[in-house]
Amino acid sequence: MNSDKTYCLITGASNGIGKALAEECTKRNMNLFLVALPESGLEELANHLSQVNDNDIKCLSIDLTLPDAPKKVFDYAKTNRLTVNKLINNAGVGGENNMMDQNPDDIDTMIQLNIRATTLLTYYFLKEMKGLPKAYILNVSSFGAFLPLPKKCVYAATKTYILFFSRSLHAELKGTNITVSSVYPSGVTTNSRVKETIQKSHFMARITTLQPSDVARVSVKGMLKGRRIITPGFATTLFYILGSLLPYGIVFRMVGRIFKKSS
Ligand SMILES: NC(=O)c1ccc[n+]([C@@H]2O[C@H](COP(=O)([O-])OP(=O)(O)OC[C@H]3O[C@@H](n4cnc5c(N)ncnc54)[C@H](OP(=O)(O)O)[C@@H]3O)[C@@H](O)[C@H]2O)c1
Repeated sequence: MNSDKTYCLITGASNGIGKALAEECTKRNMNLFLVALPESGLEELANHLSQVNDNDIKCLSIDLTLPDAPKKVFDYAKTNRLTVNKLINNAGVGGENNMMDQNPDDIDTMIQLNIRATTLLTYYFLKEMKGLPKAYILNVSSFGAFLPLPKKCVYAATKTYILFFSRSLHAELKGTNITVSSVYPSGVTTNSRVKETIQKSHFMARITTLQPSDVARVSVKGMLKGRRIITPGFATTLFYILGSLLPYGIVFRMVGRIFKKSS
């Protein structure tokens, strides 16, 4: 077992990018505190990962959209004396549809999970991290944060919130023991909904698709280096640079064309 009793907390760790992050952190010999929805196979994943290198893994099944969930995650860590020195806010939901065709409950879930849970978990753990020699926060945003995306209005807006939240907090904590990173993947082959969307997409979106393990490797490396912005893969790096250099209208038209086909 890793005798350094600090833990890396990963939300949404049962599947997709979160699961790949848990695997990557296991390779790096970290103790893990994994959070996901109930009945998501989290315990099985933890059992499997703990056999890889005997790192200590704690699991908490909870719906992070519930009002008191972020506080309950923090309380669990306190009760079980888990020193969280790395917080990875990965849990998030997406979806694409015309705004008027969306289900209000889905919109609400997206906002509660992508924005509220990330913000409050960061708030609770920040205070604890302040007393540690070194601590890291990694927020999983999306390529959709850089530009307005038709048919992903709410999703893109939640991820833009994460972009500004993370960059502002990074600036606020500059020179302290805590670094704040955020990662901006393009399409990643995770759940069946995402895979189906990628399949129907413009070829540019298809050829720039990423594997969860690649995103996880680049993200954890960037987090440990204290990188402010992490852009895994060619597409995100290119659009991040183009978005910073070209007039907004031109980039918006380019991206609009690529994403028009997907829905
Ligand atoms: N896939 C992409 O193309 C892509 C691209 C850019 C950014 N991202 C971002 O990457 C992150 C992970 O996405 P993903 O594609 O890996 O998603 P995923 O495969 O659907 O996995 C999401 C994870 O979050 C958990 N989760 C969902 N709702 C939750 C809730 N209410 N409370 C607690 N846990 C919950 C899921 O649990 P269950 O297993 O029980 O569902 C699962 O472990 C998200 O923030 C997403 O926006 C994804």
